[in-house]
Amino acid sequence: MKAQKYNHVNSIGYARGMDKKDPLAAFRKQFLLPKVKGKPAIYMIGNSLGLQPKTTRQFIKEELDDWANLAGEGHFHARRPWLTYHKLSKKILSQLTGGKPNEVLAMNQLTVNLHLMLVSFYNPTPKRHKILTEDGAFPSDQYAFETHLKFHGLDPETSLIEIKPREGEYFLRTEDIISSIERNADELALVILGGVQYYTGQFFEIGKITSAAHAAGAMAGFDLAHAIGNVPLQLHDDDVDFAVWCSYKYLNSGPGAIAGAFVHEKYSKDFSRPRFAGWWGHDEDERFRMIKGFKPMEGVDGWQLSNVPILQAAAHQASLEVFGKAGISRLRKKSLSLTGFLEFLLLEIDPDEKHFKIITPKDPNHRGCQLSILMKNNGRKTFSLFIKNRVIADWREPNVIRVAPAPLYNSYEDVFRLCQVVKHAING
Ligand SMILES: Cc1ncc(COP(=O)(O)O)c(C=O)c1O
Repeated sequence: MKAQKYNHVNSIGYARGMDKKDPLAAFRKQFLLPKVKGKPAIYMIGNSLGLQPKTTRQFIKEELDDWANLAGEGHFHARRPWLTYHKLSKKILSQLTGGKPNEVLAMNQLTVNLHLMLVSFYNPTPKRHKILTEDGAFPSDQYAFETHLKFHGLDPETSLIEIKPREGEYFLRTEDIISSIERNADELALVILGGVQYYTGQFFEIGKITSAAHAAGAMAGFDLAHAIGNVPLQLHDDDVDFAVWCSYKYLNSGPGAIAGAFVHEKYSKDFSRPRFAGWWGHDEDERFRMIKGFKPMEGVDGWQLSNVPILQAAAHQASLEVFGKAGISRLRKKSLSLTGFLEFLLLEIDPDEKHFKIITPKDPNHRGCQLSILMKNNGRKTFSLFIKNRVIADWREPNVIRVAPAPLYNSYEDVFRLCQVVKHAING
C-alpha cells in the first residue's frame, strides 16, 4: 500500500468504504463477537483463540439430541453417524492444507499428534541423529523435541540445532535455514519448523525447506498451529512428510478443540515405520472383531488412537463449513489487504521506529495475518490502553504485542480503531 496512492487512507471513512466493498464482510455476522464492558470488542487474537461461529451451538446441540434420543445407536444412526464422524472434516481440511483426503485427519491435540509423528518420523541412528528447528519454537514443541531426544538416549546439547536470525535481525532468512541444513546434512534426521512462527509471524518457505531437508537425507515436518486457516498451504505438492496443527486458533473450533495431522501419501502403505497405535487406527473392516495384532488403516487414518470426541468434532465441523463457504484463497486475498492496511497505519504513526518496530517480515508472502510489534518503550502502557479501549490483543514477554486481524470476522474499521489507540498511546 503506497501513501501517495491512498492519501486519504488514514481515515475512518476509508476503512468503512473498504468494509463496504469487502466481498467477505458478511461472514463477520456469522460469529459471536465478544464484548468488553458491554460494548463490542476489537478482537485481534484469532491467533490465540478464534471466535465462535453462530452455528457451533446448533451442531453441538444436534449431537446432544442424538445422544439423548439414540444413545449407543448414535454410532450408526445419528444424523452424522459417530462411527465415521472423522471422515466429515477431510474435505475442507484438504482444501486448507493442500493435502489429499487420505493425508489429513482431525484427531487428538496438537502436542499429542506431534509426539505420534516424532515416533514415526524421527528415527535417529548413531550417525544421523540431529533435529533442526527454529530458535524460540513454541515451548510445547521444544519439550517434545527434548524428551524424544532423551528417550533415544541423546543429549539436546549435541543433537538439537536451533537456528537463530542474524545479528540485528528478527526473523530467519530462508537461505540461512537451507545453509544450516546443508552444513549438518550428514547428521540430520529431521527438520521441523512452525509453518507460521508464533512469535514473529514469519511464514516459512515450506516447499524450499522441505526440498533442502530431503536433499540432505532428512525428514521434514511442520507445526501448523499458526498457519492453518491463515495462509494457503500445499503440503502434498511440497512433499512435506508430516504436519500437525490445532484448531482453536484460526480454525475457530473452540478452546482445547480437536487437532489435526497430515502424513504424506507416500507413507500411506508404509506399515514398517514405528508407530504408537490404538484401536481406531486399526483396519476399520476388522476393528470390531477385537482380534490381536495391529493392522493399520492406510493413510493418516492409521495413526488414529481413539474413537472420536463427537462434541469437539461437531464444533470443528461447524467451523470448517464456514471456511468451506469463504474459501481459503478469498480469505488470503482479504488477509493480505487487511494486514497491509494495518502495517500502513502503524508505519504512519511511527515512521522512524522511535517507539516500536514491526518484527514480522515486510514481504506479505512471508507472513500471515499477524503482525508482531516490538515495543521500544511504553509497551506495557500501550497494552493497558488497549484493554481500556476494548482492544483485545496479546502481550508476549519481554516486549512484543501481537495483533492478528482474521479475515473471516475482522473489519478494516477494527484495524483503524486499533491503530487510533496505538497513536493515542504513543503521543500520550
Ligand atoms: C505453535 C504452537 N505449537 C503448539 C502449541 C500447543 O498446542 P496444544 O496445547 O494444543 O497441544 C501451541 C499452542 O498455542 C502453539 O501455538
